[in-house]
Amino acid sequence: MDQVTTSLHPLDPLSMTEMAEVGGLVRAHRGFSDTMRFTATELREPAKPVVLAWRPGQAVVRAARSVLLDTATGDVIEVVVDLNAGVVASWERMLGEGQPGIIYDEFLRVGEIVKSDPAWCAAVLRRGLVEADLALVQVDPFSAGNFGYPEELGRRLVRAVAYWRGDMADNGYAHPIEGVVAVVDLIANRILTLVDDPVAIPVPRKKRNYGRADLPPPRTDLKPLSIVQPEGPSFATDGWEVRWQNWRFRVGFTPREGLVLHQLGVSGRPVIYRASVTEMVVPYADPTTNHYWKNAFDAGEYGLGKLANSLELGCDCKGLIRYFDVPSLDDNGVPELMKNAVCMHEEDYGILWKHYEMRNGIREVRRSRRLVISFFATVGNYDYGFYWYLYQDGTIQLEGKLTGIIQTAAVAPGAAYPWGGMVDAGLGGPTHQHFFNARLHMAVDGEGNTVSEHEFVPRAWGADNPHGNAFDVTSRVLGRERDAAREADGRTGRYWKISNPNRVNSVGNAPAYKLVVTASPLLLAQEGSSVRARAGFATKHVWVTRYDPAERFAAGEYPNQHPGGDGLPKFVAANRVIENSDVVVWHTFGHTHVCKPEDFPIMPVEYVGFMLKPNGFFEANPALDLPDDGGHSALDGGAPACCCG
Ligand code: NI
Repeated sequence: MDQVTTSLHPLDPLSMTEMAEVGGLVRAHRGFSDTMRFTATELREPAKPVVLAWRPGQAVVRAARSVLLDTATGDVIEVVVDLNAGVVASWERMLGEGQPGIIYDEFLRVGEIVKSDPAWCAAVLRRGLVEADLALVQVDPFSAGNFGYPEELGRRLVRAVAYWRGDMADNGYAHPIEGVVAVVDLIANRILTLVDDPVAIPVPRKKRNYGRADLPPPRTDLKPLSIVQPEGPSFATDGWEVRWQNWRFRVGFTPREGLVLHQLGVSGRPVIYRASVTEMVVPYADPTTNHYWKNAFDAGEYGLGKLANSLELGCDCKGLIRYFDVPSLDDNGVPELMKNAVCMHEEDYGILWKHYEMRNGIREVRRSRRLVISFFATVGNYDYGFYWYLYQDGTIQLEGKLTGIIQTAAVAPGAAYPWGGMVDAGLGGPTHQHFFNARLHMAVDGEGNTVSEHEFVPRAWGADNPHGNAFDVTSRVLGRERDAAREADGRTGRYWKISNPNRVNSVGNAPAYKLVVTASPLLLAQEGSSVRARAGFATKHVWVTRYDPAERFAAGEYPNQHPGGDGLPKFVAANRVIENSDVVVWHTFGHTHVCKPEDFPIMPVEYVGFMLKPNGFFEANPALDLPDDGGHSALDGGAPACCCG
């Protein structure tokens, strides 16, 4: 089809036309049946050498990857569609372990399944609800995990927990129904196992709502703060390509990861070939019936891209916004445009550099501006923002924003809650961890990168340290994959550099970028626990692998119900040489969350993330050429100082 071959670049996300063609070709395939659903459909990215060799105007290889779920049999089909030829190129039943993520249709179906089960209804009614309450009960289908229970093996499952609601607008998370968990077989459409503890904890009924009508009167002492860009933004886009200041990159988007940055480079030099968050996991630390199994993999079990919000002007971002609409396929293979899924804008970010020299009166200051490329995904109770920031000094930052509603547990009146923090009377928030893994396919100054580890260590007194003030910075090349599964260490300030040993910088070293991480706790669940086997990526802060296009996700292709062992620990078992090679740096970062009253009913944003900073990449401060911003205004109406920050 014409539309296929006129795509501008091999990494452009599938267009609406291409999505429609994929849906049509798959549905027309002899293997297709009406009970099949499309769980995820995306561009099948060409291999890296193909992309690097491509030049504008050349033919573009276009292919799509789609994973189908037969809701009647549980069969999973992996499909590749060749869009250039207009054919289904491969159609294979997935025989490995694990399941595709939970689809929208299942999300809705679980509520109907449990509410039509008399035993489940009886269990809920025993906890103080009446028949009339049942229609309003909120049912949350949670990814089931894998605990090796024999009756669960080989089935497609979710574990459903429930919440009382006084009306449709009521916040169910204020009213958890404790002690009842339905293990739902999504293929048989019935409850496989009903866990119904002896009734011990009443359902808390105090309403904790956050809809406009339930909020306190808005404060009145806030004056408007407007972002004005009378000449427009400083970025330019051409399709999915973005240019801003010295930066250049391409926007991509997948159902699993959401936003992807492709071919990110600065000043005409590559830095990262591909960057995204490929997995998340949120393990809970409450060992009781409703909670011990909760460890949602929000990317692989639900899909951060599939659950992306349509961002609204003036609400999520401020200023002059460029939105990207993202084509997708719904469960039935029908194209759907995700409006405003990705938001891009500029932000003032305080001072970038400044000096006042009292001896000669020179005073120069330049403000920092950053480009923000972001999206927000709502995964059940939580809302996660993913914000990539590019700075004028060559810094790259990823910031995760955690907000939304915490998981809750009902607590009997007067009882203590040993597994977390109380957020209201009779309502606790189980302690939990959030882990994210960013996959950074590096290309610092081109091909062939080396990762090294550095630490600050005191130097012993001696002839070479006669005053005791000297200390050292160690440097160690991570030569093979097994040696490169590393933990952060705040005491030694451990950091990593990704350098290009095939280039020489202005001071005779290899140009590099430095990975700056937060030494936050890793996975605290015990060795031998289910989540530790399944979320191996969360046991180290840094992993380095030799690029293999098949190694896409930190917890493997199918984390849903996977017994464990896939993903990064498996990738690095090969122990490939990573020095001066095509390397992927995987960084696990997160937040260990002990709940508190301020987290409820909606928690203020908690921030996580990391930075990549140029380190010998430029020969000097690369932002000396910034113009003086001007445009100051002084509060008293007088003349502003010439260089106020
Ligand atoms: Ni949390």
